[in-house]
Formats: sequence, C-alpha cells, structure tokens
Amino acid sequence: MKAIVVTDEAAGTAGMTLTERPEPSPAINDVVVQVHASGFVPTELEWPSTWVDRAGRDRTPSVPGHELAGVVTSLGYGTTGLSVGQRVFGLADWHRDGTLAQYVAMESRNLAGLPGDVDFTEAASLPISGLTAWQGLFDHGRLRAGQRVLAHGAAGAVGTMVTQLAREFGAYVIGTGRAADRQKVLEFGAHEFVDLGGEGLDEVGEVDLVFDVIGGDVQKRSARLIGPGGTLVSVVGPVEARPANGLAIDFVVEADRAQLGEIVQRVRDGRLRTNIGTVTTLDNAVSTFNSTDRHKGKMIVDIRP
Ligand SMILES: NC(=O)c1ccc[n+]([C@@H]2O[C@H](COP(=O)([O-])OP(=O)(O)OC[C@H]3O[C@@H](n4cnc5c(N)ncnc54)[C@H](OP(=O)(O)O)[C@@H]3O)[C@@H](O)[C@H]2O)c1
Repeated sequence: MKAIVVTDEAAGTAGMTLTERPEPSPAINDVVVQVHASGFVPTELEWPSTWVDRAGRDRTPSVPGHELAGVVTSLGYGTTGLSVGQRVFGLADWHRDGTLAQYVAMESRNLAGLPGDVDFTEAASLPISGLTAWQGLFDHGRLRAGQRVLAHGAAGAVGTMVTQLAREFGAYVIGTGRAADRQKVLEFGAHEFVDLGGEGLDEVGEVDLVFDVIGGDVQKRSARLIGPGGTLVSVVGPVEARPANGLAIDFVVEADRAQLGEIVQRVRDGRLRTNIGTVTTLDNAVSTFNSTDRHKGKMIVDIRP
C-alpha cells in the first residue's frame, strides 16, 4: 500500500516520504480500515509517540496521522462492535502506525460508525478537534450553562469546535486569535473577539474556563482572569500558570465512541460546522505539508480508492 513515513525527528515535515509499505494485519480486537480521508496536525511530528512505542523503543519508519474516516475491510481475532464494509471514523493510537496510508490497523473501540450522509472528508476533520473540545469543556472543564469561556485560537481546528460546543451549551464565549481572525471567530459563534496582538486580553474580565491551545505568555495572562472555582484547560503540555483560586489541567485527547457519536450527530443536524482548511491527496500531501500556501483550518488528505 502507499503510505507516508517519517524516519528523522529533526527533519519535521521536510522528512516525510511517500513510499510503499506492507498492508497492516489486525491484532486482537483490531479492525483494518481502508482510509478514505485522514486529518493531519503538523505538531504531531513533535510528539514522542510519533517516534517511539509505548516501551520507549524507536519505532521508525513510522506512519503519521491519527484521524481518519474510511471503511472496515477486516476484523481481528475477537473483534466485536463493527463489521466489514461499515463506514467508520475515529482516532488511531498515537504509538502505532497512523492514517496517512491507504490502510490502518487500529483498535475497534477507537472508532464509531459514520452515518451515510456525512462525507469522509468532513468526518476525518472531527476526531482530534471535536473530541479535544468536548473533553476539555465537559470532562475536564466541567462547563455549566451561563459560564464565561475564553477560547484561545478560536479560528483554529480545536478552537472553532470549542466555540461552537460551548455556545450550544449555553456559555458566553470570548474567542481569541490574530486580528485577521475576527470575522471567522464571530461566524463560528463567539459572542466577542479579542485580538491577542492588542491589549484586549487583560480587559476581558473574569471568566470561568480558559481553553488554551497556545501556552506561554497567553496562558499566564489568561490564568489571572479565572474566577474562584474556575478552570484552566490546556492542550499544549504541562500548565505553566495556575489560577489563584481554581484548577489547572492539561490533557491528551482520548478516543471515545459515544462522544464521536454526539459530535457527528451535531454535524448532521447543523449544530456543528467543520473547519476544513486545505484538502490534498496522498500523492501531493508531502508537498502540501511543506508549502506555506495553506488555508487555515484542519488539513485533510483525501485517500479515496
Ligand atoms: N493535547 C491534545 O490532546 C491536543 C489535541 C489537539 C490539538 N492539540 C494542540 O493544540 C494546538 C492547536 O491545535 P489546532 O489543531 O487547533 O491548531 P490550529 O488549527 O493551527 O489552531 C491554532 C489557532 O491558534 C492561533 N494562534 C496560535 N498562536 C497564536 C498567537 N500567539 N496569537 C494569536 N493566535 C494564535 C493560530 O493562528 P495562526 O494559524 O495564524 O498561527 C490558529 O488559528 C496544537 O499545538 C496542537 O498540537 C493538542
């Protein structure tokens, strides 16, 4: 099969190569999925799991990409819950070969059924950004209706999901980004926009939840805005700043079939819009990843057979 591999951690996306790899076979409780579309987050080449297995051993050449939508082609020993020919989407294991390939073997429980009226490209944009937003707001941030949420990077893949889900849940959403992001952030449902290039962040007032996708100084300044009992939720590594009278948590998104179902249902009924930037093909993916001429939003590789 065709797959993109990486072998050199220092090379970044420039080190990606399209090559031939053996088709994977399914282990216990796995399925093999023929990938029709894959999402790609460029920062994943900085994550240790791209380079080593769970025991810390070098696992290169490794196939990046962890979000996918496709069709199940075979089942492993003992696998239940999905069937051959079923449309699925989900989040592949960080430590195994991923989804920038024609086929991937992954645990069945990390996938959900994909309704026939949602196309593969849209579905592949949802697992990481949708689940990250869902888990950050509801599992870790314990958001309640009426609370004030500061959603950083609100024009980005995660941020647009955070904004839409928080607003639907009855929160007041203040989205942040670069000056040019204002219109997009408001269109995705933020009540207010703050340009992080200006002074506005310190004027936001008290918030109950900060959803941080940026870190550093932005995180430190945001932690000061959190009111009593509020939460700083970060997805960019260990938190560097803690609210004076609240909680701080960083987490890595996990696959969750029920939550994937909630997310895709919202796409079907129009409550959730996807934020797809550039769509490319497997043959052109390496040059696209290395180009500066990309649209903002989730990068998708169309791998339809
Ligand atoms: N822990 C987890 O489970 C998890 C899950 C998903 C994502 N993440 C991480 O979360 C981060 C965001 O992911 P994403 O997919 O949402 O990326 P993305 O689509 O690039 O979105 C990030 C947004 O934040 C904006 N931004 C970044 N720095 C900024 C700054 N200093 N001032 C103003 N705006 C700024 C970006 O604008 P520009 O494009 O103009 O820079 C972009 O709109 C990444 O680091 C990713 O690795 C972690």
